[in-house]
Amino acid sequence: MEIITAVRGFKDILPKETGKWQYIEKLAREILADFGFREIRIPILEKTELFKRSIGESTDIVEKEMYTFLDRGDEYLTLRPEATASVIRAYLEHAMYSQDPVARLFTIGPMFRRERPQKGRYRQFHQINAEVLGLDDPRTDAEVILVLLQFLMRAEISDLRLQINSLGCKECRPSFRKALSDFLRGKEGQLCKDCQRRLGANPLRVFDCKTVDCIKIINDAPQIIDFLCPDCMDHFTKVKEALSMFEIGFEVNPKMVRGLDYYAKTTFEVVTEHLGAQNAVAGGGRYDGLLKDLGGPDIPGIGFAIGIERLISISSLTDEKFFAPPQLFIAAIGDRAQKLAFYVCNRLRTIGIQAEMGYGGKSLKSQMKRADKLFSRYALILGEREISENKAEFRDMRQGTQETIVLDHLEETITRIVKGS
Ligand code: HAM
Repeated sequence: MEIITAVRGFKDILPKETGKWQYIEKLAREILADFGFREIRIPILEKTELFKRSIGESTDIVEKEMYTFLDRGDEYLTLRPEATASVIRAYLEHAMYSQDPVARLFTIGPMFRRERPQKGRYRQFHQINAEVLGLDDPRTDAEVILVLLQFLMRAEISDLRLQINSLGCKECRPSFRKALSDFLRGKEGQLCKDCQRRLGANPLRVFDCKTVDCIKIINDAPQIIDFLCPDCMDHFTKVKEALSMFEIGFEVNPKMVRGLDYYAKTTFEVVTEHLGAQNAVAGGGRYDGLLKDLGGPDIPGIGFAIGIERLISISSLTDEKFFAPPQLFIAAIGDRAQKLAFYVCNRLRTIGIQAEMGYGGKSLKSQMKRADKLFSRYALILGEREISENKAEFRDMRQGTQETIVLDHLEETITRIVKGS
């Protein structure tokens, strides 16, 4: 019978990798805490309506990538494709703004998008997601980008490029939309079927198209940056000034529209050559107006999400760095020795020493082979004869030296040596 495998695009994170994952998550928590962010944990399942209304009906995510099902004939639910909508839902539902509209929230966890799996693109992937609500100051945009870059740098990611853009606001977007529409209408016949449809619903989405012909057309299309109203222009200038204060290098990419409809004003992505086609390791932007659109007060917001799989695949952190071998391996020959080993091994574990022991019935040679394989720092060798003589052999596996120790005060002796090293 064949074994059952994981679902396509869903990936196991194996023990040899989890050390790095834990480190990355811990680092994110530390840095985000330094910048005043607090953790929020939200469900992975939400009402489908939430994503339709926030991400936008005409986006690829909502149109074709969501895992949606009818829950027992009751209501449509969706596995979250991203976290921003859920964070805002929670902020509004719990009226978190009533005490203080300013909230810095972060969440870490799995997201689900039914995309075509390939290197760096999965159907279940993980994000570190951070949001700042209640601040419309352009300096906040720079601050959010600073946290992101600070984290990526400490996670040992190199060759990064920060790209920024402004998508304008409700004031200036309509004139851009019209100009873009007019331009695309003139070339409608050359656009792919998807883009012809997008043209009616939301011409901005044509920028997301990966078809060679559409990309060519978009290259000459009008750019939002030329349509910004004075307020959006001023905001963008101030964001750039604030970035320069921290000597943060950036490129303005006027074609970066992001794949979600909720953005207004500043958007950004961090890209790297090392990721191939899926070149964004993180992305985000401002979404003033979204909270109001979701039925809440008119509170501004900005945030980002980092793809953990992509981050880990390009980080120079190695798995070995997080490999934690046992501090002590106990080899025990014979019943009496096995019993003592079992007791000592578990006692040591209860006082914070990472101990392992050999399995009964195996020869000393094979038990020591296992100690080697596990890269144990020290080994304690217990045999029937040693026990009757009230002693045991203690080996320093790194130095290759061995000494005889007495069994009285065994725990104290071992603790002293192991913790002292
Ligand atoms: P996003 O650009 O859709 O933004 O995703 C952010 C990051 O998640 C990407 O840069 C990428 O690293 C990772 N990612 C996305 N899709 C996949 C996938 N299929 N497989 C692996 N990694 C993936 C958002 O999700 C917004 N919610 C970000 C945001 C927060 N904007 C404001 N606040």
